[in-house]
Amino acid sequence: MRIAARMDTIGTESAFEVTARARALEAQGRSIIHLQIGEPDFDTPANVREAAKGALDAGATHYPPFAGIPALREAIAADASARKGFPVEPFQVFVTVGGKGVMLYAILGLVDPGDEVLVPDPGYPIYESLTRFIGATPVPIPIRMANDFRLDVDELASLVTPKTRLLVINSPANPTGGVLTRDDLERIAALAIEHDLWVLADEIYGRILYDGAEHVSIASLPGMAERTIVLDGFSKTFAMTGWRMGYAIVPETLVKTYSQLIINTISGVATFSQVGAVEALIGQQDDVDAMVVEFRARRDLIVDGLNAIPGIECRRPSGAFYVFPNIAGTGLSGAELAERLLQEAGVCVLAGSAFGKYGDDHIRVSYANSQENLTEALGRIRSVVEPLVAARV
Ligand SMILES: Cc1ncc(COP(=O)(O)O)c(C=O)c1O
Repeated sequence: MRIAARMDTIGTESAFEVTARARALEAQGRSIIHLQIGEPDFDTPANVREAAKGALDAGATHYPPFAGIPALREAIAADASARKGFPVEPFQVFVTVGGKGVMLYAILGLVDPGDEVLVPDPGYPIYESLTRFIGATPVPIPIRMANDFRLDVDELASLVTPKTRLLVINSPANPTGGVLTRDDLERIAALAIEHDLWVLADEIYGRILYDGAEHVSIASLPGMAERTIVLDGFSKTFAMTGWRMGYAIVPETLVKTYSQLIINTISGVATFSQVGAVEALIGQQDDVDAMVVEFRARRDLIVDGLNAIPGIECRRPSGAFYVFPNIAGTGLSGAELAERLLQEAGVCVLAGSAFGKYGDDHIRVSYANSQENLTEALGRIRSVVEPLVAARV
């Protein structure tokens, strides 16, 4: 039986596959420390869980309005207006299955086969994969450690062609933790306006920031709200990955596009989950604040620990919960080192190349794990890397 030819072009998110392999090793009795997963290890706040349970008992088990329940669209609009620095009306908000849904609809709705989409490299792999899947061409924007994992706007300008339709930015970023500055975003905005580009602004880590770093939504800059799709969601901020809830904030011109795509695919997101999400936004925020405080302590632990291992060089990012150290000093590629760490030390990280070719000399370490496990992992990483580096000199 034949499978559609377009399936040859779709990529993957290796975190899911690597996790399956790590779990298989665990099933054989191996001890594995999971530093590959992009999700908070915290539980969803209790008030959010209670709200969803109450909603189930109160009968919130029917189809929702396809764009989201009014209370949630209103809560998102109010939250975004307050935090993202531009006025958002509920009609611009679409609740989707995960932040991933926003991405899918942006690419399906805005990009034609043959168009070019500018995607960060290293970057979240699904931007590239979905672009190829619909017959368009992903154009990597190199993201370098030497530039603190911020894109170089002059280089970005050199990559724009008459075929460029969409620019994807992600700040704070997966897999690097890099954060774009206001100045970067102003220059990116000028470029988008000059070349009449759509912008997909992935702000899913926008509340996970450290050391006073400012979250600037590109949609808040003059002339940008009308060309920007903001991607945000509940997975990371509220430790709600399993709820599969994200949202798009779109300009009025895309309301019909998002409506049609949602009606044709998911019909909306679980009604009782949406009631929980309202509570996440309007209820107490102490759990989010505490989570960020803990992430910051873990960041320092992992950055200092990795830098103390010869052959590894790690920046101290000001956002998200990942570090993306350069490991070229070990003599291995990121993919080779990730494999050896898993097999020899039971530490599961991702190869930098899983996020694009500019990630080859790196590994991605998620520090969404306890300080105790991170400390243990650092010892295990050292036990693999030290002999490698000693053998090189
Ligand atoms: C940059 C980025 N965008 C979007 C997503 C997708 O989030 P969700 O789980 O809500 O679909 C992720 C998840 O890892 C991510 O890292």
